[in-house]
Amino acid sequence: MSDDFEELLTYVEDELAFATSHYNDSYLDRRISSRMRRTQSNTYADYLETLRDDPVEGDALLDALSINVTGFFRNPNVWAGIREVLASLTDANDTVRVWSAACADGREPYSVSMLAHDTPAIDESAVRILGTDISEPALETARNGVYEASRTVDIDEQLDFLDDYSAYVDRDGRTFRINDGIKHNVTFERHDLINDEPKTGFDLVICRNLFIYIDNEYKQSMLRTIARSIRQDGTLVIGKAETIPPNLKSAFTVRDARLRIYHREPTEASGLTRERSESTSHL
Ligand SMILES: C[S@@+](CC[C@H](N)C(=O)[O-])C[C@H]1O[C@@H](n2cnc3c(N)ncnc32)[C@H](O)[C@@H]1O
Repeated sequence: MSDDFEELLTYVEDELAFATSHYNDSYLDRRISSRMRRTQSNTYADYLETLRDDPVEGDALLDALSINVTGFFRNPNVWAGIREVLASLTDANDTVRVWSAACADGREPYSVSMLAHDTPAIDESAVRILGTDISEPALETARNGVYEASRTVDIDEQLDFLDDYSAYVDRDGRTFRINDGIKHNVTFERHDLINDEPKTGFDLVICRNLFIYIDNEYKQSMLRTIARSIRQDGTLVIGKAETIPPNLKSAFTVRDARLRIYHREPTEASGLTRERSESTSHL
């Protein structure tokens, strides 16, 4: 990493309060380079000047860095798998607790709620969904539950996973409003998967499309937090391009390798306790 790039990252971390050290360098470089092209900055040092002089550019960079791309029923075949998991969980339990971790603007947890309402084999009143994210603006959109389609975001197509979404979402032109019945099953709160404590007792945790951006060391600590939040034999779904790090593999058995669906092993078999004490020394 060049000194200029490092100096730029330090500025972003200290002055703009974005934890660059958690993210991998190639991801940061891609996002920063795209802002450099937009501001006609030829070098990292030039761009740092621009950032120092123009607070508006600071906001634009933060916007570019917050990896908030999401959608309803993203990767539909995974959602067919989640439907099966949810049905078997509601069959076996009075209440099913689902955590959509790093839920961005809420479309993922609302997809779970719609799935629960839309599947005859699932008792939707038994399903409680928690959506969490590190970003307060994303959570504010999530709580509102109102989404705008645009030239690049086709919400109608995203909702096409369901035969008929009109019972769950009210559409007015380009505006899509989640209705109260779907909202009723979902609550939102802020949670940082790197620095906050694990939760407990979740039957299903969905954490997708975050690890791909995260530096390996932090990825392990995030997955450890998640593993500890799932009850024994509960289920984990990660993103289709993501993998479980080798030293955490013993915490999970594969339920569907292609869809990245895993079962949580009992704590004694998982080696989680040992891994945590080993790893805290470098966190
Ligand atoms: C690409 S989105 C994924 C959204 C959704 N899970 C999906 O797959 O469509 C990644 C989200 O991770 C959130 N995030 C980044 N760092 C985080 C952290 N340390 N703890 C919790 N969420 C984080 C971002 O704010 C962003 O909303």
